Amino acid sequence: MRAQIQKVPQIVELLKNKTVGLQHFKPTSSVCVLDPKDAAVVAPCRQSLPSQTQSLYSIPGPTNWPLFGSLIELLRKGGLQRQHDALIHYHKKFGKIFRMKLGSFESVHIGAPCLLEALYRKESAYPQRLEIKPWKAYRDFRDEAYGLLILEGEDWQRVRSAFQQKLMKPTEVAKLDGKINQVLADFVSRIGQMTDNGRFEDLYFELNKWSMETICLVLYDKRFGLLHDNVNEEAMTFITSIKTMMSTFGMMMVTPVELHKKLNTKTWQDHTMAWDRIFSTAKVYIDKNIKSHADATGPSDDFLCDIYRHSHLSKKELYAAITELQIGGVETTANSLLWAIFNLSRNPCAQGKLLQEIREVLPANQSPSAEHLQRMPYLKACLKESMRLSPSVPFTSRTLDKDTVLGDYSIPKGTVLMINSHALGANEEYFEHSSLFKPERWLRESSTINPFAHVPFGIGKRMCIGRRLAELQLQLALCWVVRDYEVVATDDDEIMYRPFGPHNRK
Ligand code: HEM
Repeated sequence: MRAQIQKVPQIVELLKNKTVGLQHFKPTSSVCVLDPKDAAVVAPCRQSLPSQTQSLYSIPGPTNWPLFGSLIELLRKGGLQRQHDALIHYHKKFGKIFRMKLGSFESVHIGAPCLLEALYRKESAYPQRLEIKPWKAYRDFRDEAYGLLILEGEDWQRVRSAFQQKLMKPTEVAKLDGKINQVLADFVSRIGQMTDNGRFEDLYFELNKWSMETICLVLYDKRFGLLHDNVNEEAMTFITSIKTMMSTFGMMMVTPVELHKKLNTKTWQDHTMAWDRIFSTAKVYIDKNIKSHADATGPSDDFLCDIYRHSHLSKKELYAAITELQIGGVETTANSLLWAIFNLSRNPCAQGKLLQEIREVLPANQSPSAEHLQRMPYLKACLKESMRLSPSVPFTSRTLDKDTVLGDYSIPKGTVLMINSHALGANEEYFEHSSLFKPERWLRESSTINPFAHVPFGIGKRMCIGRRLAELQLQLALCWVVRDYEVVATDDDEIMYRPFGPHNRK
C-alpha cells in the first residue's frame, strides 16, 4: 500500500538527548487482559430475559434505503476515509448498539463494555470473524491451506493450539527480546544516519521495514536486511507482494470474488500473483529453517522448528499459518508505533516522564530486556493510552453461530457483529476527557476503567495471537527511541484519525 505510506505527513522530528522530571505512579492491574479475574470486577450488564427481548429489526440505526442501505449517507459523511468518525457519530446518536446496511451487507455495531462482556461470556468454542473470501478463494484455487486469520471450527482451534503456548505465554514471548533488540539496534542507528536535520523523509515506510524485519527474524530466524540502504531484490519483492495482496483484496470483499475469478479481472490476477510470490518466498525460508534444525538433538529454542516438532501440523498447514502470522504482524505493529511516536511528540510532558522512568530502570548503554519492562509502568501506560486514542485495528467482527441475547435484543445466528474499539476508546462515558492523551489514567491505584472498554487486540478465544509479541516489540521500541531521541512535533495541525497512521485534516 505504497500510496497510503506516501500520504503520511511529516509529524515528528528526532533530536538527540534531553532531561525532564518524573512523578511516580502505581500501575493498575492489567486491564487489557480479559480473563475472568478482570471481568469479575465489572458492574453486571443489564440483560433482558429471553421472553422480553426485542428482535434484530428493533435495533435502531441510520436510514436503510432500498438497494444502497446507508451507503450514500456514509459517503455523504466523508466516505470510507471518514467512516470511523461516522461510526462514532452513529453510536452517539443511536446508543450502545445500532444496525446498519451497506448495500447488501448488514451488520450490528456494538460499542459498550457491557455488551462486549455479554458476548464474551456467551462465546462459543470456535468464534468466527467475518469471512475474508478473497483469501479463501486463492487458497482453494492453489490448493493451499488456511491460516488463523481465515480458519474456522475445529481446524482453527487445532492450529491455534499449536501456536498458543509460544505466542501467548508471557515467559515464552519474553525469550524473544534478544531478537527484537537486534533489529532495534539497527533501526536506531539507521535513524541517526538517515534523518535530514532530524527530519524523516518517510517514517511510516521505515517503521514497516522495522516490523517486517522483526517478524521475519522471529518466524524464520533470518535477517532480510530491510534496514540496509540497498535492500536486496528478494526482500523487496516480498514486501511489495504483501502490499499488492493487501491493496487488491478490499475490492473483492465488496464485489463477488467468484466473478473476479471467472472474468480473470486484473484485480484477481494481481491478487493471485502476489499470493504466489508470498507463498513461494515463505516456503523457501520455512523449509530452510526446518532443514537447518533437522539434525539437532534435544530441545530447540527456535520458534518455527519448535512448533513443527511439537505440533501435529502438516507442512502445508505450517506454510499457511506462518504466512498469516507474518501478514498479521507487520502493518499493525508499524502503525501502532507510528501513533505512539506521534502521541508522544504532541505530549512532551508525558515523553519527559517516560524518559525519566527509562533512565531510572535501564543502566546507560544497556539494551532494555523483557525483565526491565516489568519495572516500567509508565511505558506500558503510554502504549495503552496511544492504542486507546488511535488503535491501529479500529474494529474486529464476530459472525454469530447461535442465537444470542445481547442487552435488550435477541440477535439471530448468522448476524455479523462489529466490535468498535475506536468508538469505545473515544467515549466520554468510559474515558473522561477522552480526546486527551493521559497515560496516568491507567496508573491510578483503583482504576475505574472497565476492561471491556479497551480491546485493541479483540476479545476472548479469538483475540489477537500476536498480542504479547506486539506489546513486547512496541515497548522495547519506545525504550530505544525515547532513550536516544527527543521526538518533536514539527507542527500542531489537527490530525485526522485513520488506522493507517496519522493524517493531516487539510
Ligand atoms: C499492535 C499490533 C497488533 C494489533 C493492534 C493487532 C490486532 C488484532 C485484532 C484486533 C485481531 C482480531 C481479534 C479478534 O477478532 O478478537 C487480531 C487477530 C490476529 N492477529 Fe493481531 N494485532 C497486532 C499484532 C499482531 C502480530 C505481531 C501478529 C503475529 C505474530 C498478529 C497475528 C494475528 C493473527 C494470526 C490473528 C488471528 C487470530 C485468530 O483468529 O485466532 N497480530 N489482531
